[in-house]
Amino acid sequence: MMQDARLPEQPVQLSSGSARRSPELSVIVPTFNEAPNVELVVQALVASLRGIDWEVIFVDDDSSDGTTDAVRLIARRDGRVRCIRRIGRRGLAGASIEGMLSSSAPVIAIMDGDMQHDASLLPEMFRRLQAGDDLVIASRFCDSGSAADGFSRTRLSGSRVATRLARMFLHIDVSDPMSGFFAIRRPAFEALAPRLSTQGFKILMDILASTPQPLRTSEMPLHFRARQHGVSKLDNLVAAEFLSLLLAKLTGDALSLRFVLFALIGGFGVVVHLVTLKIALASGLTFWLAQMTAAYVAMTGNFFLNNVLTYRDRRLKGWRLLSGLASFWVVCSIGVIANVGVGQLVHEQASRWWLAGLAGAGLGAVFNYVATSIFTWRAR
Ligand code: GDD
Ligand code: MN
Repeated sequence: MMQDARLPEQPVQLSSGSARRSPELSVIVPTFNEAPNVELVVQALVASLRGIDWEVIFVDDDSSDGTTDAVRLIARRDGRVRCIRRIGRRGLAGASIEGMLSSSAPVIAIMDGDMQHDASLLPEMFRRLQAGDDLVIASRFCDSGSAADGFSRTRLSGSRVATRLARMFLHIDVSDPMSGFFAIRRPAFEALAPRLSTQGFKILMDILASTPQPLRTSEMPLHFRARQHGVSKLDNLVAAEFLSLLLAKLTGDALSLRFVLFALIGGFGVVVHLVTLKIALASGLTFWLAQMTAAYVAMTGNFFLNNVLTYRDRRLKGWRLLSGLASFWVVCSIGVIANVGVGQLVHEQASRWWLAGLAGAGLGAVFNYVATSIFTWRAR
């Protein structure tokens, strides 16, 4: 076997004390405001995982309700309980990926931290992975699985539509690609980790759509229970997020999830622009003034939409919201110049109006996207 040049050939000698091996199973639990559920989740794991060497890693996005304190309190008396506190970031997928990468266990499971998932399925999931499966999914839609207790009717039908779209367009052949409860073998996960989007909720669908080699996958029926405490963190924006992930994957990741969202919102901005223009003209403004008004109304709308959707993980608040809006106006104003300039150029070369228009708009969108990601929503 080839040796990795960076790794010593002999195992590192540990100086003193007894070395503790990595557990066989890491359970990753992403949390956001789940303080009252933490103890229950740990108890469920303790009860279910007898005979397995396990650990649980709570990945918390700096919840305001003391979730990390609750985890650390338990961790002090039970070393199998670990905690990652992420500051200034949000997102179920990103948190899950970070938790998985932080462990060295050969088998990793992802489970929600609100008791909707039945921890007693874990031993069988673990056994199947040891027996050669790459991925085991706890499915609400296979055999005796069910979702009715844990979901409202709308959420349930939304989930079904999403599943159908994923099957149709991404050729994902499992009954519940939106499940938040699954286990995967480390080599399979490490191979595809660099391709995963850290944004959003749909980590399993992303795994299924991004894997370089087919995964030996099996499913187990899950009875999706009602939440113990607190409320769901999913809102209506997940629908837009889902569609964008679908588009990003359909383009073979040529377009990022973020760019797809940005461009969709840009398209919506055009509609806002035209409606505002119509109203402004009807109320007697000159065309020039009406056009200016429409442009800034559309830009402002786009700024807020991008802030809650495209950049929800870096959402600007307070003063930074105002300075962000100002920088967005500046960038997009330059974007308009780029748009018109390129449109003009293409129009002179090939006098097809729609081609010129499209080229201008496309370049404007790319310019605005790149520039606002640097100046407006720069990563901290
Ligand atoms: N770290 C972190 N950051 N955790 C989060 C975040 C976040 O931004 N948002 C949610 N979580 C945690 C919650 O605290 C919970 O432990 C888990 O992720 C699932 O979130 P819920 O808010 O309970 O999701 P749900 O029950 O509405 O949705 C379930 O079904 C979806 C499929 O329709 C989940 O299993 C989803 O993963 C799944 O996609
Ligand atoms: Mn939940």
